[in-house]
Amino acid sequence: MSEHVTITIDDRKVKARVGEKLLWTALENDIYIPHLCAIEEEKRPNASCRLCFVEIEGMSHPVTSCTKTVEEGMVVKTRSSRVDRLVKTGFELLLSDHDLKCRECPANRNCALQKIAKGRGLKLRQKRFTLIERDYELDDSPAEFAFNRSRCVLCGQCVWADRRENEIGVIGFARRGINRVVTTFQDLPLAESICKECTVCVDVCPVGALYYKKTAE
Ligand code: SF4
Ligand code: SF4
Ligand code: FES
Repeated sequence: MSEHVTITIDDRKVKARVGEKLLWTALENDIYIPHLCAIEEEKRPNASCRLCFVEIEGMSHPVTSCTKTVEEGMVVKTRSSRVDRLVKTGFELLLSDHDLKCRECPANRNCALQKIAKGRGLKLRQKRFTLIERDYELDDSPAEFAFNRSRCVLCGQCVWADRRENEIGVIGFARRGINRVVTTFQDLPLAESICKECTVCVDVCPVGALYYKKTAE
C-alpha cells in the first residue's frame, strides 16, 4: 500500500503522508492556514483556537484542518466566505481580552497574531466584541523569563512542551470559560513552584506572553 495520498488544495495537487492531518500537509506545501493551538505530535488535537477552518468538497460545513486526516482525492479550499467569516470571528474573540500593545511587546514582528492578521487581512484592533480588561499580575519571578497572562491566547503550546519535558507538568490550564488561564499548581509564581526554568515553554509561545527578559529590554 502506498504511504502517500494525493489531494488538491486551492487547485494545487499535493502529496500527503497517509494519516497526516490536513493542516500540516498544507503548511509543508507553503499553503498558509491560520493556526495557534495545533501540535503536530498530538494525536487527538483539541482544536480550541478555531482558526484553521477549510472547506472540503462534499462536506456541508467548514472543518478544522488540524483535526481532519487527509484522504485520497480530497479537494480542499482554504478560503471561502464561510471560512473567512469563521476565522474573523474566532480571531476577534481571541483579541477581545488581549492586551494589544505591540510596540511594547517582545514578540512584536515575530508574533502569530500579527501573522494571522497579515495573512487574512484582519485587524488586530477589533471593535465587534466588548474589550475585557484583565488585571493579571506579571510573573517575572524566573531569572531569565517572564509570563504576561494578558497576552496569552490559551493555545496550550507551553503546557504541551512542559509536559513533554517535565513529566509532572509544572504548568496547566485552570478555571473555565472566560476565566481560563495557564498557571502553576496553586497559582504560585513560577519561581516558587516546581518550575526548573528549563524555558521550553518560552520557546514555543507563539505570542508575547512567555518571553525572555532580555528581549524586552
Ligand atoms: S502578543 Fe502579538 S499582538 Fe499581542 S501585543 Fe504582542 S505583538 Fe502585539
Ligand atoms: S503562554 Fe503562550 S504558549 Fe502558553 S497558552 Fe499562552 S499563548 Fe500559548
Ligand atoms: S489550529 Fe485547528 S483549531 Fe487551533
